[in-house]
Amino acid sequence: MSKLSHVNHNDENILLDHKTGDDAAIYKIDERLSLVLTLDFFAPIVDDGFIYGEIAAANALSDIYAVGGKPIIALNIAAFPRDLPTEIISSILEGGMSKVKEANTAIVGGHTIEDKEPKYGMAITGFINTGEQITNTQAMTGDILILTKPIGTGIITTALRNNKDLLDQEYLDNAIDSMTQLNNIASKAMNLFQVKSATDITGFGLLGHLHKMMIESKQSAIISENKVPILKGAKELVEKNICPGGTTRNLEYVKDYVEFSKDLTMEHKKLLADPQTSGGILMSVKESKVNQLSNYLNDNGLTGHKVIGEITDKKDSTIKVSTI
Ligand code: CO
Ligand code: CO
Repeated sequence: MSKLSHVNHNDENILLDHKTGDDAAIYKIDERLSLVLTLDFFAPIVDDGFIYGEIAAANALSDIYAVGGKPIIALNIAAFPRDLPTEIISSILEGGMSKVKEANTAIVGGHTIEDKEPKYGMAITGFINTGEQITNTQAMTGDILILTKPIGTGIITTALRNNKDLLDQEYLDNAIDSMTQLNNIASKAMNLFQVKSATDITGFGLLGHLHKMMIESKQSAIISENKVPILKGAKELVEKNICPGGTTRNLEYVKDYVEFSKDLTMEHKKLLADPQTSGGILMSVKESKVNQLSNYLNDNGLTGHKVIGEITDKKDSTIKVSTI
């Protein structure tokens, strides 16, 4: 390790930052070890404080996992209304703490301000072996795309907020199980099977994040709509025109870059653009490693992961969505 007197800020040590739209920043300490830094917080998306805390923590940790890092320490970031009962505040913080423990990470402090609308999340610091970061930039022709969690959390949580009568408890429970699940196993799998390019699926939806990866990798992708894992109930709800505002914005943003099969309806397109909270990892895997990696995910409980498409040479559109 470098002596402190030798450590100066030096742009050459910034191995990853916002320029490639990647999930975390990486700063090189020395030839062996680098720091991974990330921050994420948002307003409640479920009614239960503890579950909200769990989701916020899993979501913040995910950006460390998405670049292949190991989370080490966390700081809470919170805003609470003055009249929010202390029991609720405690349960939010306890929910966050429980996920951080599951990730073998410690909360070492934080900061809270007063605000009308509650907000909660974390800044997380992790470690990674220098040079081993997994980014948006390394997807290669012939790679297979694997998605580790189903999409549709934006639609389900919008129904919870605005159309509770249309939302089955089972749909909500499935979405919560998915959002509270850490992406640690997916990250371990990427380390074991030398995945170079991946991202987690969050606010820009599957299409938005895949588009960004294709731009940065200078490649294109073909995905099959009916292979994309979708949360139970999401399709039914979107057919009733329930979806968050972010979906329309996401779709508007990618529409000029995506070639949709003529068989695809507006509902299909909305699902693929649905903004996710604590979504899965989308990874670009060498074809020769797909079976082993998939077996590893199954053996460790990620039985819902799916092969959704592949990487091709660069074409006019960054993404082609087929129905077969
Ligand atoms: Co991310
Ligand atoms: Co993020």
